[in-house]
Amino acid sequence: MDLIIKNGTVVNADKAVKADVGIEKGRIARVAPSLSSPAAEVLDAKGMLVIPGGIDMHVHLNLFFCGTYSENWGSATAAAACGGVTTIIDYAIQAKGATLKEAVESRMQDAEGKVCIDYSLHGGITDWNERTRQEMDYFTKNGIPSFKMFMIYRSQGWMADDGILFSALEETKKNGALIMLHAESAFVLDLLVERYHTPEMMKKYGAYCHALSRPCFTEYEAVQRAATWAKVTGGRVYIVHVSAGETAGILARAKADGVKIWAETCPQYLLLTDAVFKRKDGHLFATCPQIKQKHDAEGLLKGLRSGALEVLATDTCAFTTEQKAMWNGDFTKIPYGLPGVETLLPTMFTFLVKKNRFSLEKFVSLTSTNPAKIFGLYPRKGAIRSGSDADLVILDPKKKVVIDAKSLASACDWTPFQGMELTGYPHLTILRGNVIARDGKFVGVRGSGRFVPRSPGGKL
Ligand code: URP
Ligand code: ZN
Ligand code: ZN
Repeated sequence: MDLIIKNGTVVNADKAVKADVGIEKGRIARVAPSLSSPAAEVLDAKGMLVIPGGIDMHVHLNLFFCGTYSENWGSATAAAACGGVTTIIDYAIQAKGATLKEAVESRMQDAEGKVCIDYSLHGGITDWNERTRQEMDYFTKNGIPSFKMFMIYRSQGWMADDGILFSALEETKKNGALIMLHAESAFVLDLLVERYHTPEMMKKYGAYCHALSRPCFTEYEAVQRAATWAKVTGGRVYIVHVSAGETAGILARAKADGVKIWAETCPQYLLLTDAVFKRKDGHLFATCPQIKQKHDAEGLLKGLRSGALEVLATDTCAFTTEQKAMWNGDFTKIPYGLPGVETLLPTMFTFLVKKNRFSLEKFVSLTSTNPAKIFGLYPRKGAIRSGSDADLVILDPKKKVVIDAKSLASACDWTPFQGMELTGYPHLTILRGNVIARDGKFVGVRGSGRFVPRSPGGKL
């Protein structure tokens, strides 16, 4: 073995045990009560938790969105590593008239030489036709078995109408792919946005217009509709960034009804409320869907507990305060999106484990094992067992940290979680057997992240 991590508590989704972890050629060789090997380097993890590297299956790096580019692959993935995330999945969104293949190649070129952790891509379907249908079949068999579709973003040309969604879902029944859905009700949303998009309303409410124009029903109506299409087609659907408490109930009922539906929520919907939009810097928090109310956060937590939602992801799409200032008082012109991949594990560890809401095992399942299983990375990623990639986080469960944008590794100059007091933070992040982050600093090799082909997943 090349490396042995000794004396830690090894946490998998099913159990936490005191054990040593032996690593050879970037893979986990053995997990056993006491390991030794003369040539191996030894890391002492006494008092620490050894968990599988975080998998954030929803990020947007270097995305041209709302007239500007989100944070680049290099700094964002170095930041991810500092926060304990070892794999991300971004999107290759097809341009109108272009192929998915072109989108995938261009995203891979973009990541090349910059990406610091392992990554994969979801296809992004914006132009549904026979060629796209064939490409979907092709990519499902060749490493990219999940495809994002948007029920909104009509003016950007990204929206899939119900007919398109219906036929894409029919296809997933045949080929085993997964449709990932941004579910909001486009037409009602556009109407409400127009209603608040007046000089009077914007003067009166400022960035809070963003909250007023996106009430919960604009999400849960769309999710209900998507669940109906998934039920009648027998298709497979995953709802991204669930923000409303009512949606958790819809997901639970659909699952009980046998619908093949999975879902994620994000830290911003659990930790914040729409009161942020009333702050002087409230426009910074604009994201789609918008952050909702306390009872929504409670409903989402309940949904995570019951299994109505299976994944924590971040929807990272980071814009600086300077980019966010482009809004100039018009809430429809804010670059929408938040930083978050770096703070996913630490914030959720404090909020869920330290506050005794969930067990360590459940924390690992939400941040690593479930996304690995649903998105076809398991057992290569998402578990500490022999044969898996040695993607690990040695987390100090007692370390006290107050989140401050200045100390984070992200190039984004602000964080939605500024001032949050945490207990527990990654000490070391290990990617395929190599230490790539130490106490919040990236120490790996830029560009050494690899593209990871996936197989059709969607099972837990
Ligand atoms: O506002 C957000 N979340 N921006 C990224 C694009 C999306 O809808 O996920
Ligand atoms: Zn979205
Ligand atoms: Zn997104």
